[in-house]
Amino acid sequence: MKTIIVVGGSKGIGNAIISKLVNSSKVVNISRTVPNLEHANLTHYSCDVIQENLPEIETADGLIYCPGSINLKPISRLSIDDFKNDFEINVLGAVKVIQKYLPILKTRNKPSILLFSTVAAKLGMPFHASISTSKSGVEGLVKSLGAELAPTIRINAIAPTVTDTQLASKLLRNDKMIENITERHPLKKFLNPEEVADMATFLMSDKAASMSGQVFEMDCGIVTFKI
Ligand SMILES: NC(=O)c1ccc[n+]([C@@H]2O[C@H](COP(=O)([O-])OP(=O)(O)OC[C@H]3O[C@@H](n4cnc5c(N)ncnc54)[C@H](OP(=O)(O)O)[C@@H]3O)[C@@H](O)[C@H]2O)c1
Repeated sequence: MKTIIVVGGSKGIGNAIISKLVNSSKVVNISRTVPNLEHANLTHYSCDVIQENLPEIETADGLIYCPGSINLKPISRLSIDDFKNDFEINVLGAVKVIQKYLPILKTRNKPSILLFSTVAAKLGMPFHASISTSKSGVEGLVKSLGAELAPTIRINAIAPTVTDTQLASKLLRNDKMIENITERHPLKKFLNPEEVADMATFLMSDKAASMSGQVFEMDCGIVTFKI
């Protein structure tokens, strides 16, 4: 049975991922709060990945890094600290966990890493300057490390559009906003965490053995189509 480290499995997309993975893998979750899930295959470490030392873990075949931010403001109101904070949680947190767990991943058969970008890295949208900058960094990391770690370790990212999680709750806080967001997408929908988790579990599996260095847009058409 594979062991997958999930950073950020207590909520949102990460929580949907651990709920699926525990059925077929051992899962080591790292987050500040405890996931509302109990399972024989699930181990939890309470840790702030930015502020604290990461836990020692003996073995892992995969690593998924979920923490991120949605900090939308006009450039005149974005402080340098906003940019630094977004870069820290989206990029440097991912770098920190990859550096920490790379030695144990390297010892395994077909290990894999998964990061999260956003559609806002490809699609220019007002007020997304900070998050777009940080997630473009995540995409750069995926490309560069994909080459550097080949053929031993695969690394990919999913770039979701709006997904119904706590992080996106401000964007989905009333029926009018939900309708507007639904209408803006050519497929007339946005994402739920479970469908992102399905993509994540596929990319972590050996079925995705030929894919590395890729950013998979789950965009409900918003980046791809102009209708
Ligand atoms: N939701 C969207 O609409 C959307 C759209 C595009 C991209 N994304 C990206 O998709 C990813 C997942 O998003 P989400 O909506 O599932 O986010 P979320 O609901 O905020 O969940 C984030 C997870 O990361 C953990 N986390 C955050 N900061 C942490 C820290 N310092 N140390 C340890 N754990 C930490 C949180 O747990 P604790 O609070 O317990 O620590 C939580 O389990 C993010 O990278 C986000 O940028 C999301």
